[in-house]
Amino acid sequence: MLSAEQLRELEAAVGAASLILDERRVAFAADELKVPYLPHAVVEARSVADIQALLRWANRHKVPVTPRGAGTGLSGGALAVRGGVVLSMARFNRILEIDPVNRWAVVEPGVINFQLQEAAAPHGLFYPPDPASWESSSLGGNVAEDAGGPRCVKYGVTRAYVLQLEAVLPSGEVITCGPRTRKGVAGYSLRDLLIGSEGTLAVITRMVLRLQPKPARTLTLLALLPDSASACALAATINREGLTPSALEFMDEAAVELVRGDLPMALPEGCRSLLLLEADGGRAEAEELAERLGHLCGEAGALDVWMAEGGEKAARLWEVRRRLSHTTRERFAQKLSEDIAVPLDRLQECLEACRRLGQAKGVHVLAYGHLGDGNLHVNVLSREEGEASLARMWQVVEEIFRLAVDFGGTITAEHGVGCWKQPYIGIELSPQSEQLQMNIKRLFDPNNILNPAKIFSWPQIEEFDA
Ligand code: MLT
Ligand code: ZN
Repeated sequence: MLSAEQLRELEAAVGAASLILDERRVAFAADELKVPYLPHAVVEARSVADIQALLRWANRHKVPVTPRGAGTGLSGGALAVRGGVVLSMARFNRILEIDPVNRWAVVEPGVINFQLQEAAAPHGLFYPPDPASWESSSLGGNVAEDAGGPRCVKYGVTRAYVLQLEAVLPSGEVITCGPRTRKGVAGYSLRDLLIGSEGTLAVITRMVLRLQPKPARTLTLLALLPDSASACALAATINREGLTPSALEFMDEAAVELVRGDLPMALPEGCRSLLLLEADGGRAEAEELAERLGHLCGEAGALDVWMAEGGEKAARLWEVRRRLSHTTRERFAQKLSEDIAVPLDRLQECLEACRRLGQAKGVHVLAYGHLGDGNLHVNVLSREEGEASLARMWQVVEEIFRLAVDFGGTITAEHGVGCWKQPYIGIELSPQSEQLQMNIKRLFDPNNILNPAKIFSWPQIEEFDA
């Protein structure tokens, strides 16, 4: 509870029209995983001044503030796990500028990724980071989590496309991080510190994002493979041969079984794993790349390689792939979806080990993901409801994290740590590294008001004293 006096002050700070105290708060309680933490209040900020006033108020009363974009996250980064105020950035939804000379877009953080794609296209430009949720996730959330996506195998993740950030510090001061130029080495890169900081260091209010010239052509290929071992070997071969597709998406045997009926083509008998590839570039370049990729798929034992330039079937294939996370959620009673990455030469070994871990605990393991980045979405699934199976699923997840790090990889390649992976952060970060990062957080936010209790192993803090 917030006291009547605190609420009066908050209303005076941000205005009654921006403050939600009734049942509408429910819409701001959960993210994509649908586990709700109801905040005491929601502030729908309309200006930088609102955010400054909110954070100054929160510092005075030591009330947690959790920034939130579109709420499509998968790690609990936007959940108000300690109560307090959720700061919704949804009204910061303007594309302020598309500049084809400098090839940048100036946007507010609440703009949806796909809206920027649509705004950039008439200028012959595009914004490469394309998380599977690009039709619903916000650019601010993408930057806060340093989101990836299928195209990142060629173009790199969100970090590579952030030029400049304007942000409000927990103290209420406004800072600008990074120049607008592509180069700039003055001092430490606070911009890079904010990218991927999961809303724990500052509230991003404006972003200058790099755009790329749109390739003349994009060809889509689907390699119908006998098993995931040949898919993993194929990804390694494509890399060794020096080819760079603009997507290299994988579905293992269990994922193929799940979506077989949703695909726009019948799969031949014996096809149990899929690689969805794209080749983009100049007209001749894209075609040559597609041919070389098709050839390698054949050599790797593909039963068939389907190829098209655009069209309904390619669109449907991408829809099935982008919906995979939802499809698994719809068809299993419980799901934990992870985003580990391992070096490309350890992919198959990692996948087999994950399956063995699942079998040992009696839960399903299904995998898909961005194979060209070594990034596997290992889904740990159960057809049973209930705490007992969920506990077994988490045990499997913990072992999967250990495996990924042992193989030289990471526990999170694109979704962030948030609150769900927080208990496991020590698997990847050394105590020294974690302490150093916690000290950085303390420097930015001495009262620990901004998205507290996330990422690191904070000692248990009492629910804020309201
Ligand atoms: C994806 O690539 O589909 C997303 O990262 C979400 C997921 O983990 O499934
Ligand atoms: Zn992904």
